[in-house]
Amino acid sequence: MTGRQIPTPRPELAHLPPSIHGARDYRVLAENQLAADDVLDFSSNANPYGAPPAVLDAVRAAVTPSALKRYPDRDCLALRAALSRHTGNAVDTLLPGNGTAELIQTIALTYVQSGSRHVILSPTFGEYARAVQLAGGQTVDVRSSPPHFQFDPDAVARELQRLKPAGVWLCNPNNPTGQQWSAEALARVQRAAPQALWVVDEAYRHFTAVPIAAEDAPNTIILRSLTKDFSLAGLRLGYLVAHPAVIGTLKTVQPPWSVNALAQIAGIAAFQSESLVWQQRTLSQLRRHAAQLWTDLRALGMTVLPTETPFALVAVDDAAKTHRQLLARRILVRDATSFGLPHHIRVAARRPAENRRLVDALRDVFRKT
Ligand SMILES: Cc1ncc(COP(=O)(O)O)c(C=O)c1O
Repeated sequence: MTGRQIPTPRPELAHLPPSIHGARDYRVLAENQLAADDVLDFSSNANPYGAPPAVLDAVRAAVTPSALKRYPDRDCLALRAALSRHTGNAVDTLLPGNGTAELIQTIALTYVQSGSRHVILSPTFGEYARAVQLAGGQTVDVRSSPPHFQFDPDAVARELQRLKPAGVWLCNPNNPTGQQWSAEALARVQRAAPQALWVVDEAYRHFTAVPIAAEDAPNTIILRSLTKDFSLAGLRLGYLVAHPAVIGTLKTVQPPWSVNALAQIAGIAAFQSESLVWQQRTLSQLRRHAAQLWTDLRALGMTVLPTETPFALVAVDDAAKTHRQLLARRILVRDATSFGLPHHIRVAARRPAENRRLVDALRDVFRKT
């Protein structure tokens, strides 16, 4: 038919960075004739012990025709009550979402004004920049550098005073570097941009030995994910903590029924004491396994960057090549090129026998190159 054309997307999309993530990429698996369970995944920073048994039981029991037929509770009342008991935050300061990835977009669509300047403390999770740009904002990277990727709070504070951003996005502890801001350093940089919206992503908070929480403040939104420490990536569940007025505004933008019925049940079960004990025990085991893995990789002659999480950046000659070579051995690591680090892979520790498979595979790769 004449006159009909492909629709024109919004101009903001023209330069949007691609959405690149770790975890299994089903297209790449299909190209390599691999099924999801054929590969051992060191590319996704999730608890390798899986979801707590009590969460799995609760989800199994909830799969009934009536639960699947009904729309879920749009206000997540029972989940927010459980979250409130667990975190000590009032119910009206909590907003669950379909993973923190969705909440990041909801925040940007709500608060990023067209042309406004947002600082991203980089290298970091790529969705902050994408969300800001999607909403028409401009991003400025303030980057930490190798070998330690530690931010100097005074230098960051000076940059923020100079740039006067409308928003600042940071991840604590940071993906992919595993570096953590202390509470004092964070408060210090936050004071340098009191006019800004602060988005502090604490997706990996429980992975460190000493978790740090950002201070509640009217200009601060704190993001937390349940897909990492409770290993619920397939269900999608996260939440944010913010001022009640901010929650009210975000709810007008968030898609309705964003958190599905099974995710709500899983979240409620995750905050019961049995699951919390399980989470703490498995994550402290994981930290020990990670320390052993870093020792074993260093014994191979590799440079593992300092980290406070069970994932770390590891220096290689060519990250894309190492990724390919390991995939050929059915092992997945994160090629850090999309973080601007083409000479690093990110490795998330798993259980001891699995970690040994990675060390053996890398030894084999190096022997042949
Ligand atoms: C720092 C960070 N924040 C948020 C997310 C998204 O997590 P979710 O599964 O809660 O959407 C990720 C996922 O990799 C992440 O690394």
